[in-house]
Amino acid sequence: MGGLGVVGGRGLLLLTLATFWAATLAKLVYVEENLPLPGEESPPGSPWPLPRKWTDSPDQLAIDPATFIISSDLTGCDVIDAALHRYQNLVLIDPEATADPGLTLLPFLNVSVTSGCDHTPHLKLHPDYESYTLEVTLTEVVETEGSEPVSHGSARLVSHTVWGALRGLETFSQLVHIVEPENHYRLNVTLVEDAPRFPHRGLLLDTARHFLPKGTLLEVLDSMAWNKFNVLHWHIVDDQSFPYESRIFPNLTEGAYTPRHVYTQRDVMDIVEYARYRGIRVIPEFDTPGHTQGFGKAFPHLLTPCYGDDKTPGTPSFPFHAAYENLDPTNPQVYDFLKAFLVDLKHTFVDGYIHLGLDEVFLPCWSSSPVVRAFMARHNYTEVRQVERHYVEKVLELADRTPINYITWQDPADRGIQMANTSVVQVWKDVSLSPSKMRGWRDYVHDLTEAGHQVILSSCWYINFITYGQDWKNFYNCDPTDFQGTDEQKKLVLGGEAAMWGEYVDATNIMPRLWPRASAAAERLWSLPLSEAPSVDNAAYRLDQHRCRMLRRGIPAQPILNGYCGEWEVPQEVTMSTPPPTTTTTTTTTTPPPTTTTTTPSTTPPTTTTTTSTTTAPTTSTTTTTTTTSSPPTSAPTEASPPPPTAPTEGQQQPAEHQANLAPQQSPAAALTTSATPTATPAAEATANEQPEAVKAEAL
Ligand SMILES: *[C@@H]1O[C@H](CO)[C@@H](O)[C@H](O)[C@H]1NC(C)=O
Ligand SMILES: *[C@@H]1O[C@H](CO)[C@@H](O)[C@H](O)[C@H]1NC(C)=O
Ligand SMILES: *[C@@H]1O[C@H](CO)[C@@H](O)[C@H](O)[C@H]1NC(C)=O
Ligand SMILES: *[C@@H]1O[C@H](CO)[C@@H](O)[C@H](O)[C@H]1NC(C)=O
Ligand SMILES: *[C@@H]1O[C@H](CO)[C@@H](O)[C@H](O)[C@H]1NC(C)=O
Repeated sequence: MGGLGVVGGRGLLLLTLATFWAATLAKLVYVEENLPLPGEESPPGSPWPLPRKWTDSPDQLAIDPATFIISSDLTGCDVIDAALHRYQNLVLIDPEATADPGLTLLPFLNVSVTSGCDHTPHLKLHPDYESYTLEVTLTEVVETEGSEPVSHGSARLVSHTVWGALRGLETFSQLVHIVEPENHYRLNVTLVEDAPRFPHRGLLLDTARHFLPKGTLLEVLDSMAWNKFNVLHWHIVDDQSFPYESRIFPNLTEGAYTPRHVYTQRDVMDIVEYARYRGIRVIPEFDTPGHTQGFGKAFPHLLTPCYGDDKTPGTPSFPFHAAYENLDPTNPQVYDFLKAFLVDLKHTFVDGYIHLGLDEVFLPCWSSSPVVRAFMARHNYTEVRQVERHYVEKVLELADRTPINYITWQDPADRGIQMANTSVVQVWKDVSLSPSKMRGWRDYVHDLTEAGHQVILSSCWYINFITYGQDWKNFYNCDPTDFQGTDEQKKLVLGGEAAMWGEYVDATNIMPRLWPRASAAAERLWSLPLSEAPSVDNAAYRLDQHRCRMLRRGIPAQPILNGYCGEWEVPQEVTMSTPPPTTTTTTTTTTPPPTTTTTTPSTTPPTTTTTTSTTTAPTTSTTTTTTTTSSPPTSAPTEASPPPPTAPTEGQQQPAEHQANLAPQQSPAAALTTSATPTATPAAEATANEQPEAVKAEAL
C-alpha cells in the first residue's frame, strides 16, 4: 500500500472512546459489544475512491467560507465554469461552518487544464484522459529580512483534460472536512497523483421495469460523479414499457405505462447535458430482438406472431413464449426501422456508442412460426440459432454503416459472431445466476478476451440483489482482471458496470440500494487492483465516511456500520400534532391497536433490538429504549431465484417486495398527518413494514 498514509493502530482504543471521539471529531460511533471491528480507522477527509497515490501529512489548513475561492486559468469553458460553481458549494457545504482561527488559511484552489477546453466525454483508453495532480501545501516565507516567517497555504490542481479536473475537484471536496463541534473547515496538507485504472466505469439503470422520474436520474448522475463513475448505461426500454420518445417515431411511447411515464426528447437532452457537465457518458440500450414487447405496442407488425397452439398466429404458450416475443427477423421492414432508429439514438444521445443488447433471445416463438420455418428452409438453416445469427449479423452491419460503435451483451460473442474491433462485449453471465447453464464469469472473460474482444464486466456487480449485512464487501472483492489470462488479454478489459435492474426498484428505494453499495464497484474500477488494494475491513471505515458524505450532500445512502454520521445527520425534530379531542371514537375498527407507540425521532436511536455486527453471533442490545413491532431477523431467502440481467421470468412478478430500505425523505410528514393516533413515527413506519425477506443474516 505504498503511498497511502493511512493512520492505524488504534482501532480498539477507538471503540472504548467512541462517544468522546464522536463529540470531538464528528467521527462515526462504532458500538460492537462482543467483537471490535477489524481494520484500521481512516482519518476525516479520506477520499473514496482511493487515489492511486495519496501522500498526506499531519499539517492542517483552515478554509474561510467568506473568502475561499476556486478558480481556473481555463476561462470560458462551460464544463469548467459549471464545475467551479458546483464545487464551491460542495466544499463549503455547511453555511454555518467557519474557519479554524488557530490554523493558516488556504485562500484558494487554482485549477489548470493543460490541453484546453473539451465539451463531450468519450471512451479514451489513455489514463491521462482523466488523470490529475492535486497539491495542497503549507510554506513558511520570510518576507523581509529579520522578520518572523509567515505561513502560506496554497492548493493547485493540474490536469490534462477538463475531465481530469472534474475528478480532481471531487477529490479536493472530499479532503475538506468539518470538525465538530467547533464546526470548522479543515484540510490536511496533501499530494494526490491520480488516474483511473479503467476507462469504462459504468452504472446501469433500468427504466423499463419501473419508470424513474427525471429528477431521480439527475440525482443519480450527481452521486455517480461523487464516486467517479463515468458511464450511465441507460437500459431505457424493455418488454414491460417503452418510455423513450423518439424524434422519428413518436408513437413508440404507446408502449409507455402511461403518457406520464415518458422521457420526452427534452428530458433526454437535459439528462445527457447534465451528465456531460459531470464527465459522464450516457449510453442508451435498445435491446433486440428479444425484450421488445414494449416496442411492439406501437409496431406490432414488426414482431413475429408466435403460434402457441400450432395453428393461430399471435397465441402464447406459457412459459415458453408470449403471443409476441421477438422482432421478426424475416421482415425487411424490421431492418428499415432499425436503420432509422439507430440514427435517431445517435443524434439524441451524442455518445459514440450505443448498446444493442442482443441478449437472451428465446427461440421457441420463432420455432413455432411457419413463417420463420419457411425462412429457414430458404436459407438452408437447420437450426433456429442460425436465424438469430442472421439477425445479429444484419444489425451489426447496420451499426457499422450508420456508423456507430456498439456494446452488446456477451451472448452473440459467446457464439463466435464477428464484431467490429471497436466493439465492447458486456459480460453478465455467472454460475451463480444459473448453476446448470452458466459457467463462472472468469471463464467467460477469459474466452472472450482470448477471442480478441474488448470486455466490460457486470457479473459480480448486480447491485439490485440484496442480502442482509455488508453485502457491499462482495462487490468490493470482485476484480475484472482476476482471471487466468495473458497481459494482452487483461488489456482488453476496459472496466465494468454496476447493474441496478429495476424489477424491484423504483424511486422509493433506488438511492439507498445504490449507495454506498455501488461505491464498492466504483473504487475497484478507479483505484488499485484487488491484490494491491486496502483490505475490505480497512475500506469499511472509509466507505462509512463516504456514506456520511453522500448523506450530507442529500443522498439517502444506507448505513454499513453501526453508529451515526455526526450532528447534521439527525433529521429535523418531528412535532406531532395532537388530534382534536372531539373527533375520535368512530374509527376504532380501522385504527390499528397502538402497539407501536414510540416517541423517538426517526433515525438516531436504535429502533430495532437486534443489531447484527459484521461477523458475530447474535448480539443483544441493552441500549434499546423503544419498543417496536419489527420481527427479529430470521433466515429467509432474499429475492427469489436470481434473474439473468433482463429476467426471462417477468410476467410472474408479484408486488411482493416491500423493502423497507428507505422511508423517502418527504413521506414521514405525510404519514403523520393521516394518522389519527400518534402511532406512526417515521421510524415505526419503516420498521413495521420490514419484511423478513429483506433479512438474510450472514451470521447464520
Ligand atoms: C490530518 O491531520 C490530522 C492532525 O494532525 C491527523 O490526525 C490526521 O491523521 C491527518 N489526516 C490525514 C488523512 O493524514
Ligand atoms: C490562483 O487563484 C487566485 C484566486 O483566483 C488568483 O488570485 C491567483 O492569481 C491564482 N494563481 C495562479 C498561480 O494561477
Ligand atoms: C406508429 O407509427 C408507425 C409509422 O411510423 C406505424 O407504422 C404504426 O402503425 C404506428 N402505430 C400505431 C399503434 O399507431
Ligand atoms: C441451399 O442448398 C441448395 C442445395 O444444396 C443450393 O442449391 C442453394 O443455393 C442453397 N441456398 C442458399 C441460400 O445457400
Ligand atoms: C480497427 O480496424 C480499423 C479498420 O480495419 C483499423 O484502421 C484500426 O486500426 C483497428 N483498430 C484497432 C484498435 O485494432
